[in-house]
Amino acid sequence: MAFSRVKGTADFYPEELGVREHVFARLRSAAQKYGFCEVDVPSLESFELLAAKQGEEIRQQIFTIEKKGDEQLALRAEFTPSFARAFIAKQRELAKPVKWFTIGKVWRYERPQAGRLREFFQFNAEMYGSDKPESDAEAINLAIDALCSLGLTKDDFFVRLNNRKLLQGLLADIIGDDKVEPALKIIDKKQKLGEKQFTEELATAFSSEQAEKIKQLLTMGIAELKDYNMCELAKEGYGELTRVLSFIRPGFVKFDISVARGLAYYTSTVFEIFDTDMKFRSLCGGGRYDKLISMYDGEKTPATGFGIGYSTVSLLLESKGLLPKADLAPDYYIAVLDDSVRDQAMALAMKLRERYRVEIDLMRRNLSNQLKYANSLKAKKLIVFGQDEASSGIVKVKDMESGKEEKVKVGEI
Ligand code: HAM
Repeated sequence: MAFSRVKGTADFYPEELGVREHVFARLRSAAQKYGFCEVDVPSLESFELLAAKQGEEIRQQIFTIEKKGDEQLALRAEFTPSFARAFIAKQRELAKPVKWFTIGKVWRYERPQAGRLREFFQFNAEMYGSDKPESDAEAINLAIDALCSLGLTKDDFFVRLNNRKLLQGLLADIIGDDKVEPALKIIDKKQKLGEKQFTEELATAFSSEQAEKIKQLLTMGIAELKDYNMCELAKEGYGELTRVLSFIRPGFVKFDISVARGLAYYTSTVFEIFDTDMKFRSLCGGGRYDKLISMYDGEKTPATGFGIGYSTVSLLLESKGLLPKADLAPDYYIAVLDDSVRDQAMALAMKLRERYRVEIDLMRRNLSNQLKYANSLKAKKLIVFGQDEASSGIVKVKDMESGKEEKVKVGEI
């Protein structure tokens, strides 16, 4: 019986894994430059932790595991809850701000599409302890720098920045506090729904006058809002937004009042990163969540962070010709001419492996087939090892690119 991959998962063959590791190395390095430390957390968590404050959409997407005993476990659908749990366990002893990142797999039960998988990788960074706008800006600047470290520029992607307090306050002025949540849900789906269906959903949930006002609100730029008559909550949000903006690397950010973010825990700054043409789904999502730690019974701690998805990033890099190359080629291929010297050839391979990547014939092929194989591996150098080489201790090293050959003493390679 033949088995195929589970829908929405990916196999990474050597080339693809090599590319992925290159990308991860650059993201890791960007995080370290900002003083973020790498951590790791379990893939399995209690369902309760994962589902507590994430909002209905992601709750539906959690892969739960068949109950064993009375434990209801699930696969993490994002890192934010696990990080929060790990932070709370040590929060008293940790010097603030705590800045952590990780790169790992998460799982969501979604309908798979290009860039949308059921098992995917996130580069996730969180910061605990600072409620200052510069910490939001630091997170956003890290996300920008991480993408730039992959060769992307401000021509390739942009940050859509908003503030939940601003949006919630302005919506409350139109529809009242109790209707804000359902409005946020519709606004969050705006892109997915398309203009017509978005209008329909607004019209179903609100009066036509309110729906029209919401649509108008969503067209407002930052300059128009400056003199807009707004409630205290919205004013606070506007103030935070402008201060965060003042710390962000110029040229990458656009204010967009329609950014609501699906996850329920955000309290203030929210942002998403998209490719300039918005051809792919989001590259990154994040924001400030100042209530989650205390909701999980930790000591009240402000927090901000983001997650970058590898699937969309790799699609964008590929479309720009920026996917790094995997370097799988061995430095040396040792072709063995004669069974009688196989042990000496193996000993040479082991010696060279102290410094180089070395492959040697393991199939007892004839020379021509060994050379074909060495070529398919794109070996950089070739040594043909026979009785002459074994007795003289001198080998010919052929540079496979230039074709040049050089005689070298075995001990001097
Ligand atoms: P999120 O917006 O759900 O936020 O996901 C972050 C990124 O993960 C998305 O922008 C996207 O690139 C990627 N992603 C999400 N779902 C999928 C999928 N099904 N397939 C492939 N890639 C996907 C969070 O996860 C928050 N925990 C981010 C955060 C951290 N906020 C504060 N701290």
